[in-house]
Amino acid sequence: MTTTNFPPLVAGNWKMNGTLASLAEVDALKEKLAGVNPACDVMICPPFTLLFPMGERLNDSSIAMGAQDCHWEEKGAHTGDIAAEMIAETGATAVIVGHSERRTDHHETDEIVQKKAAAAHRAGLIAIICIGETIDERKAGRTLDVLSTQIAGSLPEGCNAANTIIAYEPVWAIGTGLTPTPEEVAEAHAHIRKELAAKVSGEEEAARVRILYGGSVKPNNAKELMAVENVNGALVGGASLKADDFFGIISAYL
Ligand code: PGA
Repeated sequence: MTTTNFPPLVAGNWKMNGTLASLAEVDALKEKLAGVNPACDVMICPPFTLLFPMGERLNDSSIAMGAQDCHWEEKGAHTGDIAAEMIAETGATAVIVGHSERRTDHHETDEIVQKKAAAAHRAGLIAIICIGETIDERKAGRTLDVLSTQIAGSLPEGCNAANTIIAYEPVWAIGTGLTPTPEEVAEAHAHIRKELAAKVSGEEEAARVRILYGGSVKPNNAKELMAVENVNGALVGGASLKADDFFGIISAYL
């Protein structure tokens, strides 16, 4: 259901997958999207190495491109890191920050995520800020508290519906084939929407912020998940790697 005047977004997070050969999937997706008009925006977030070539491939298409992470500084002595400004140069318009895999693998805290999101805004990119509870937190009945803490800590000053997208991704649903029930998704998204009001300029703006659901979204469950109130699209991992599957998810908006 759409509760925003930005279109819903279906974004594919390729994670550490994809070489030049994988651009064939982008061509296939372009073909599938030609002539159809889904009521959503579509984005692919490839690894850094593919940003420039994919950007060229997407030049003549409505598919947007994002990156998967950025450093918070503009430049400097940070071996192996990429600045938001560098990402913007590739034609990307967004960057994912605070994905649970980064929070776990790279020990990223809310404070770091907040700095990265601010860097995205500084570079003119949309920050797709990921939040979500672990299975232990859910079992302990702490899901909504965890989401509140992550929202309070991970969103920088100056967030609005144009520069910020929230992705609710229960950690236990990522790559596992498990998903929360529609009721659980509805509860989490409504809570996020409510908490957002304090972080953007009030309830009206909070109502316009896109809140994506992520975690084992597949062609066979996308329609049900995307129909949940306050769900404004999906962040898709595994099922975004193949044009057929990704198109199957986008088809929830056809
Ligand atoms: P998944 O990943 O769709 O493979 O569960 C989602 C994500 O991590 O963004």
